[in-house]
Amino acid sequence: MKPNFSLIVANWKMELSLNEALTYFSDYHDPFINIANSSGRRIVICPSFPALYPLKNMFDQTKIALGAQDCSAFRSGAYTGQVCSTSLSQLGCDYCIIGHSEQRTHCCQTNAIIAEKAQRLLEQNIQPILCIGESKQDYENKKSLSVLEKQLVSVITSIAEFELTEVPIYIAYEPVWAIGTGVIPSHDYLINIFDWLNQQTMAILGKERIVGLLYGGSVSEQTTSHFKEIQAISGLLVGKASLDFQKFNNIVNLYKNS
Ligand code: PGA
Repeated sequence: MKPNFSLIVANWKMELSLNEALTYFSDYHDPFINIANSSGRRIVICPSFPALYPLKNMFDQTKIALGAQDCSAFRSGAYTGQVCSTSLSQLGCDYCIIGHSEQRTHCCQTNAIIAEKAQRLLEQNIQPILCIGESKQDYENKKSLSVLEKQLVSVITSIAEFELTEVPIYIAYEPVWAIGTGVIPSHDYLINIFDWLNQQTMAILGKERIVGLLYGGSVSEQTTSHFKEIQAISGLLVGKASLDFQKFNNIVNLYKNS
């Protein structure tokens, strides 16, 4: 089942230092709160780890939701440098991105590890935002669906076996060749991918489970209406353009109103 609101996720990546993230939010405090107040949408901000705690305090009493950019596949233990889902929950995270292509590439994350991360998040009632996407080469060789199938099916099958069925799940389709490039997939291509995603998620997770399908990769003021046209898309994952408040604000409003 589709969520009954759109989800707009700002992925700040590691673009802002702690101080820069706090200054950015403080500079646009009231407008950020305003865009999150509008009905029919939810705004999630995903800063890097050190900014989660101070930002959560700044989001207090607002409708802005906090998201992390990754979590450990393990509950606790000798895993230097990792952050567990229990800590993310204690920090007030309602969402967490997992399987982003930058993590898959730079941190050697396999689908099996990503499936474990999803489990850890669900144990803490944190909504996973599972990123999947094919490389340029796979796209050009027409292997997109087989790549997406590998990334999607193992993770959502393990989610389906997990008991906490009431926690909504988000799948963000982010073609790697569209991230940060200004290039986006055609309308017909997206229709095919999102139809396929809909079928797969319903077949594996069931029709009753709330599953939101997001698009990410070069979302901008110029490209937003393109994604809004596709019924199966429930929201957007915005990278670069979320770092400029005016652009982000325009994207959010265009997505809601177009
Ligand atoms: P982009 O990044 O909007 O800068 O293309 C999206 C993402 O990587 O999540």
